[in-house]
Amino acid sequence: MKFTFVTLFSNLVEGYFQDSILKRAIEKEIMSVDYVNPRDYSKNKHSKVDDTAVGGGAGMVMNPQPLFDCLDELKKEDEEVHIIFLTPVAKPFKQNDAKRLSKKSHIAFVSGRYEGIDERVVEKYADEVFSIGDYILTGGELASLVICDAVSRNIEGVLGNSDSLSIESFETPLLEAPSFSKPKVYDELSVPSEYLKGNHSKIRSLKLAMSESKTKFFRPEQLLKQRIRKSYEK
Ligand code: ADE
Repeated sequence: MKFTFVTLFSNLVEGYFQDSILKRAIEKEIMSVDYVNPRDYSKNKHSKVDDTAVGGGAGMVMNPQPLFDCLDELKKEDEEVHIIFLTPVAKPFKQNDAKRLSKKSHIAFVSGRYEGIDERVVEKYADEVFSIGDYILTGGELASLVICDAVSRNIEGVLGNSDSLSIESFETPLLEAPSFSKPKVYDELSVPSEYLKGNHSKIRSLKLAMSESKTKFFRPEQLLKQRIRKSYEK
């Protein structure tokens, strides 16, 4: 699987792949990462890539020309490339999207800076457009990294133990039960005593109860989804 980051600021992105799980996945050639700078495609004599908004409005908008040329080139090199734009004005990215996108062979993330990207670029080239939440970032780079990370860990071989994928929060409507590491007692705080007794069916029901109470507290709307899902299973 290949990821291409179309960004004016690849420095903001590169560091994330220089350690830990994704670094290992790149070393094992399970995935690769590439960077393309739209400025390199600018036909402006000062390599400008943005301008004021037509029709008024605050801030600068990224021009169509460098992005059209850059994305045409990307598509010419690989017609399978799946192009994703990042903007707060889009559908929210979800775990289901992460799983679905992990089956693609090549994803390109197009990050806007300034006030955004000329809408004609999005209309012409976007296979999908995502927001990572209801807040405004200074650009799409962090959002593209968030999505890349969530997609990558669903690629076969990226995580050491694929069991860890199936029981996670958002794989079911319930949030995951809390985890504990050693020692069993630390600073006079013990892990739940049931965990220590080794009765796995009791541990499972305790985990389910904790999942339900976490979900009720943090994400009550998820419990409704769980009830609807169960009613369909009947
Ligand atoms: N760019 C700026 N804010 C964003 C957000 N919340 N999601 C995706 N892209 C963005």
